[in-house]
Amino acid sequence: MKTRTSYACGTCGASSPRWVGRCQSCGEWNAVSEQYDHERIAAPTSLLATTIDEGLVVASGLAELDRVLGGGFVAGSTTLLFGEPGVGKSTLALQAMRSLAARAASVVLVAAEESAAQVARRARRLGPVPADLAVVATGDVSSAEQVIARFRPTLVVVDSVSALRDDRVTAASGSTTQVRAAAERLCAAAKAADTALILIGHVTKDGELAGPRALEHLVDTVLRIEGDRHGTLRIVRALKHRFGPTGEVGLFEMANDGLRELPDGSLSPPGAALEVPGVVWSVTNDGSRSLSVELQALVASGAGTPRRVAHQVSSQRLALLLAVLEARCHLDLGSLDVFATTAGGLPAVEPGVDAALALAVASAAEGFVVARGVAVIGEVGLAGELRPVVGLDRRLGELRRRGVERVLVPAEMAPGSPGVELVTCRSLLDVLEVARPVTP
Ligand code: TYD
Ligand code: MG
Repeated sequence: MKTRTSYACGTCGASSPRWVGRCQSCGEWNAVSEQYDHERIAAPTSLLATTIDEGLVVASGLAELDRVLGGGFVAGSTTLLFGEPGVGKSTLALQAMRSLAARAASVVLVAAEESAAQVARRARRLGPVPADLAVVATGDVSSAEQVIARFRPTLVVVDSVSALRDDRVTAASGSTTQVRAAAERLCAAAKAADTALILIGHVTKDGELAGPRALEHLVDTVLRIEGDRHGTLRIVRALKHRFGPTGEVGLFEMANDGLRELPDGSLSPPGAALEVPGVVWSVTNDGSRSLSVELQALVASGAGTPRRVAHQVSSQRLALLLAVLEARCHLDLGSLDVFATTAGGLPAVEPGVDAALALAVASAAEGFVVARGVAVIGEVGLAGELRPVVGLDRRLGELRRRGVERVLVPAEMAPGSPGVELVTCRSLLDVLEVARPVTP
């Protein structure tokens, strides 16, 4: 829709409130035409000609983190880094800062919860501290804002955003209103200074949607650190990323001297030497990675209502698989307790591990051992059929690297040259038949 506002002469530029045949200013004939108010018209432009300001990418130097970010932090952008207390947020941020400071980038930690001495102690635990790593212990938003505006550091980390106070906002300290107001001011400051800003937020399992996640729409990138704080595996996942793919994961291991990166193929091979019923290998796709995973099940007779416990695997999928095992594979699990998990704390929640999980339960229930060197891939449908999964080639590549020799796969899938023996199965029943040891 166009908005007619005025008329102007194409020769001398003089404006006129209505159309006239001859310009009253320069006398030119037929030079006056309609003008459009460009302020009010959203003029479409060619996408091809539109310039993209991608910003400067600041690689943290931690390959697993940069992988999740698609290269690094973007200058002027804000990243929310959240996770449960003790999962390793401060450690990861500090390691990224150290790595950047070691390459002479200016980095500042705004410590809102700890004193500078406490931060220094933690930093030294991770190794020698680079001179360019600075700390300011304050919870005052204005001070943090000034640090960003005055020094324009390459990277600023605020640990944590929930501990910031904004004196201009009357709401209680730590309340969503306070935290949001503080975050808004710092995002704006970071943008103006071209500083990459990381806001750390803690969250509890139950309170995921309150607290820091109220900031999700404000920030450019949201990273979550996942992992059992009693275990060592840590997964950094991009839940939102304005500058690249989301869902990408980075793997770390918490050690005595901080988080150690786990590049592809470095996860300690699942499947220790134990050959017991209930253990089956598979491979799960997460982000752009394929990760070998050992599924474990235990079946026990319990008293009263049978318990079904799923850890690191989906409890809905476990329930579905138990129903399919009963209805289509004639297993009687009705009165039994079933426990299912993965070894090593790796989550395996996607349907590609269905068949392996079901086989683990069957093997535990019947007491047979699934041979080592065998892995199972496939989604299980309600009819007991084995369905194809996405990214089979990638999954097979990972299993091959781990020394798997034989893989049970859905019948529809016939990849090129997988380098492992493939056994096609139409159904979960087929999988059980192939995996059960042959009795003479
Ligand atoms: P931390 O980064 O403080 O977690 P968050 O900021 O998410 O609350 O680290 C949490 C735990 O990690 C802490 O309990 C101790 C442990 N840790 C190590 O095992 N090794 C280390 O080098 C560091 C720094 C911490
Ligand atoms: Mg912390």
